[in-house]
Amino acid sequence: MAQVNYKKVYERAARSGGWSKKQLDKTTKWGDFYELVKTKLQGTEVVLDIGTAEGNRFMGLSKHIKKGVGIDLEPGMIKLANRNKREAGITNITFKCLDADKLDFPPETFDVITVKHSPINFKDAFRALKPGGRFFTQQVAENDKWNLKKAFGRGQDYDRMPGTLLKLYKEQAGKAGFQKIKSRTSSIPHYFKSKQKLLDFFEKAPTIPEFGKHRKDYEILEKFIAKNRSPQGIKSNTARFFLEMSKPKY
Ligand SMILES: C[S@@+](CC[C@H](N)C(=O)[O-])C[C@H]1O[C@@H](n2cnc3c(N)ncnc32)[C@H](O)[C@@H]1O
Repeated sequence: MAQVNYKKVYERAARSGGWSKKQLDKTTKWGDFYELVKTKLQGTEVVLDIGTAEGNRFMGLSKHIKKGVGIDLEPGMIKLANRNKREAGITNITFKCLDADKLDFPPETFDVITVKHSPINFKDAFRALKPGGRFFTQQVAENDKWNLKKAFGRGQDYDRMPGTLLKLYKEQAGKAGFQKIKSRTSSIPHYFKSKQKLLDFFEKAPTIPEFGKHRKDYEILEKFIAKNRSPQGIKSNTARFFLEMSKPKY
């Protein structure tokens, strides 16, 4: 089974300007993750965003929080985030190159932590949250772009039963001390408008690792397109889960 080389994926995405110039990503039943988080904020919170990438989507929260810190492991992403921040004239958010597994903030620094599509270290996140602090995450589920992974016989988390990561995260969160753990899932149709859009997706997303390296990849792609062509585009799906929880007040 081809493993995803995430470092390569993140570096390549940073070189090509980040994941998206768009501030919103409405590919779930609940719409955009940060828009959903916004409804749960009062405007007084100090917020940490883990895996913030080029920072555009996190900066969408700037008017709804007191202060924010966005961190990302990839230096190229933090460069982009700082540039985007200057262009947007945002002053209450800072960006820092930092690994989620090596959080160096003093304990009980944040009211809220957000993580969208990036790995989580629940123990460290718990420590960095104030008592009563809240944690929100959205993650890519195993059954994302399911027909595509089936067609290629490989893909991101293809060898894991759908629901495994959500279950694991709930267990890890509970062990770290989080309470009131609630989840929801979403799988909605996703249409690639053209073959080029699908090829662009392979370039940036880790969904089908090393697309094009295997002799048969282009043949499989043509068959996939013929089979899944529809008036709206080439049909696949977007599957995500959302988790929210809180640190007890003592
Ligand atoms: C798929 S992108 C998601 C970006 C952004 N949260 C969004 O939803 O648009 C994942 C990001 O997480 C970052 N990342 C991956 N592992 C990380 C870690 N251990 N600590 C901090 N950032 C990490 C990557 O560099 C990448 O920019």
